[in-house]
Amino acid sequence: MRNHIIILLICIFMLFFLSQVKASGGREIFLSKCGACHQKDGDAQAFAPTKYASTQWKRFFDRNKHSRRKDISSFFNDEELDAVEKYLIKHAADSEQPEAVGLK
Ligand code: HEC
Repeated sequence: MRNHIIILLICIFMLFFLSQVKASGGREIFLSKCGACHQKDGDAQAFAPTKYASTQWKRFFDRNKHSRRKDISSFFNDEELDAVEKYLIKHAADSEQPEAVGLK
């Protein structure tokens, strides 16, 4: 019985660790790939995750609103977009960890 609990705790810890790794992946993709266009003097305006509230980011990705401005589907796969969406929601204007620096 006690072994089961220890194994369960290890699993929970590993899941937590993996979710953190993924979250940091979203930040990197955001900075490098979204930032390739969204930068000062770039094709598009620089912005930070606090540009929108979490529900607005969700809508932005759910409805693929970016395609109204520019089709970026060839630059990102689903996992990358998912990771960026999670990062932006986690640091949105109304989040507990708002990130106002973002792209420059
Ligand atoms: C190939 C270039 C390019 C890439 C890559 C790119 N964007 Fe854009 N984005 C644009 C352009 C061009 C616009 C329209 C001009 C503007 O708003 O500055 C735009 C507009 C936006 C807007 C404003 C939308 C609106 O309705 O006002 C947001 C938010 C945005 N992009 C988010 C992102 C995110 C998040 C990523 C990464 C997943 C990303 N963009 C990647 C070119 C790009």
